[in-house]
Amino acid sequence: MEPTPINLNNRRILLGITGGIAAYKAAELTRRFQDQGADVRIIMTRSATEFITPLTMQALSKHPVHLDLLNPDTESVMGHIELARWADLILIAPASANFLARFASGHGDDLLTTVCLAAECPVAIAPAMNQAMWSKAATQSNRSTLLSRGAHILGPDEGLQACGETGAGRLMAVDDLVLRASALFSTGALQGKTVVITAGPTREAIDPVRYISNHSSGKQGYALAAAASDAGAHVILISGPTHLAVPDRVTAINVVSALDMHEAVQSVIDQADIFIGVAAVADYRPTIAANQKIKKNQDGQRSLTLEFIENPDIIKAVAQRPDRPFTVGFAAETEHLETHAKQKLVNKQLDLVVANNVANTDIGFNADDNAITVVYHDGSRVLPMMSKRALSERLVEIIAQRLSST
Ligand SMILES: Cc1cc2nc3c(=O)[nH]c(=O)nc-3n(C[C@H](O)[C@H](O)[C@H](O)COP(=O)(O)O)c2cc1C
Repeated sequence: MEPTPINLNNRRILLGITGGIAAYKAAELTRRFQDQGADVRIIMTRSATEFITPLTMQALSKHPVHLDLLNPDTESVMGHIELARWADLILIAPASANFLARFASGHGDDLLTTVCLAAECPVAIAPAMNQAMWSKAATQSNRSTLLSRGAHILGPDEGLQACGETGAGRLMAVDDLVLRASALFSTGALQGKTVVITAGPTREAIDPVRYISNHSSGKQGYALAAAASDAGAHVILISGPTHLAVPDRVTAINVVSALDMHEAVQSVIDQADIFIGVAAVADYRPTIAANQKIKKNQDGQRSLTLEFIENPDIIKAVAQRPDRPFTVGFAAETEHLETHAKQKLVNKQLDLVVANNVANTDIGFNADDNAITVVYHDGSRVLPMMSKRALSERLVEIIAQRLSST
C-alpha cells in the first residue's frame, strides 16, 4: 500500500506551470490534488501554453486558467494580489531554469513571478530540466538563493530524460510531489512525537587500544535525525563514534560499543513514539576484552585466536516490548534486497524496513547519496538515488503517514 498523502480538503493550491517538456505532468498532478480534496487553480506562463493547452488545464481544474498580468478583465475578477491571497500553497511544477532565475532575481514581469512575489503562503518549486541545465552553476546558485529565502525545492529526480540523457533533472514523480506538497500543510509531520534514532558504527574492544568496527559513517542516521527534527519531532540520537556534527535541536547520546548502545536505547525507549535503528551494530564482540594491550608474539605464538560472543539485538529488543514504539529497521544488503528486508521485517516483527544496497559504492555506507527500498507488511516502495538528506525527508513523511494509519 502506498503512503496516503495528508487530506487536502478545503486546501487551495495555486499550480504554476512553466515552459518545459514535463508540463504535461501538471495535468495528472492537478487530478491527484483534487483526489485529495484540494481546490486547484492554474497559472501558466506563455511558454507553458506551447507545451500543454490552457483548455486542458481549465477543463481539469474547472476554473479559468490565469495567463496574463496586464489583463483588465482578469484583474477585476481575480488579479495577481487576490490570487496570491487565495492560495494556501503555491507550487510551480514543472519549474523551468528560466523561472528559477527570474524568481531568484526578484522579477515581477509576468503573472507567475508577480504572484510568487506577492505571496505570503509557502511557495514550493519542482524544477524539471535537462541534467546539464540543472547542474550549471547559475541554476544551482538560483536554487540556493530560493532555498535561503524559504522556498521549498522539491526534487528534481534522477533518471532518463526526455532529451535522451540521464541524470538529475526529471520532475519529481507526481505521487511524491503530492506527498511532499501535502506535507507542507501540516504543522510538521512528526509534531509532538519523540523519535529515538541510532546511528553510526559500534566499536568492539579487543584490548585497550584495538577494536573491531565497520564502515558506517553515520551520515544516513544523522540526516534522518535532522529531517525528523525539522518535521517537529523531539529527536534523541544515540550515536556510535562518527565525525559528524549533531543536527540542530537534536539530543545526542554518544556511545562506543553495541552494549553501550543497547543500554542507552533501553534508558530512553519509554519516551519514544518511533524508534529508527540506523546504526550498523556489531553482531558479535570479543568474549573477553584484554585489560592490557595484547603483545606481539606473546609466548612465541605466531597466531592469535579471538573468541566472539553475540551482542544483544537492539532493534529486536525494542520491537518485543509490550508498549513498543513504531519500529523501523535498516537492512544493509549486498544482494536480494527486498527478500532479505522482508525476512528482517517478519523475523524481528518490525513495522517498516529500509533496505539499501551497500555493494554499490556510489550509495550506502560512506556515500552522500543513497537509494532505498522501503518495505512494510502490505507492500514496498522504491526511492531512487538522491542525497541522504532528501531521502530522509521522504522517509520521514512515509513513516509519519504509516504511523498515523496504525
Ligand atoms: C522543446 C523544448 C523543451 C524545453 N524543455 C525545457 C525544460 O524541460 N526545462 C526548462 O527549464 N526549459 C525548457 N525549455 C526552455 C524553456 O521553454 C524556455 O527557457 C522558456 O523561456 C521558459 O519560459 P517560462 O519560464 O516563462 O515558462 C524547453 C524549450 C523547448 C523548445
